Amino acid sequence: MQEATGETLRPGGFKLTEQAVNFCALNKQTRILDLGCGMGATASYLYQKYGVKVVGIDPSSKLLDIAKAKNPFATFVSGSGAALPFENDHFECVLAECTLSLMNDLYVTLREVYRVLEKDGWFVINDVYAKNPEMLNAMDTFSITSCMRGMHDLFSLEEVLEKIGFEIMHVEDCSHLLKELMVKIIFSHGSMGAFWRKTIEGEVAQTCCSFEHNIKQCKPGYFMLIAKKGEK
Ligand SMILES: C[S@@+](CC[C@H](N)C(=O)[O-])C[C@H]1O[C@@H](n2cnc3c(N)ncnc32)[C@H](O)[C@@H]1O
Repeated sequence: MQEATGETLRPGGFKLTEQAVNFCALNKQTRILDLGCGMGATASYLYQKYGVKVVGIDPSSKLLDIAKAKNPFATFVSGSGAALPFENDHFECVLAECTLSLMNDLYVTLREVYRVLEKDGWFVINDVYAKNPEMLNAMDTFSITSCMRGMHDLFSLEEVLEKIGFEIMHVEDCSHLLKELMVKIIFSHGSMGAFWRKTIEGEVAQTCCSFEHNIKQCKPGYFMLIAKKGEK
């Protein structure tokens, strides 16, 4: 994946991060949590460009070790979105850049984000979604760890966020960024099929094939959603 995405592990590199910085007027003083920070690419970007010292959380010790080595100015914590080890109302912004789709306990995580955000705090989500959400049920039959397995039903996600108490401020389709990434993957691996066979270690070829088939049926897209913590 990294061969195609570079420093970040998501489509679009820092384009959407930059958009979020402008939309939410984030600055050096903003207390930001990077949920699912991976190798700390966003931590580096925000520090180098804006002097922001983010807090990053991720369950992968391998990725956190890389993040810590590259970003001595940031704080990295091992943990999961479903149990954030922070006080209520602690952050002014939570970034979830291509991470929620990997979380099995999405609802619990969204409630946790609500809890740790201060009133009017920003929640920025960039992630994959299914333009054909009625085909998503078939994805539950796979136990593959991939954001594609957790593609969102964008309409349901918005409903859940509002139910929790978020106000949706901005939703944008950014599917061109996913297409660009797919083109890069095809250039580096020969085909999406070859990429899935390499990525999904330990699965038989037939499983990879039907996983790829199901992804196509869902018509994957990419989105950016920015919400604010409102009153419950
Ligand atoms: C596609 S990567 C994106 C990483 C980073 N946000 C980026 O854009 O470069 C998804 C990240 O989510 C993390 N992740 C998976 N499950 C998680 C969970 N339950 N809570 C927090 N992070 C999680 C993974 O370890 C991984 O670093």
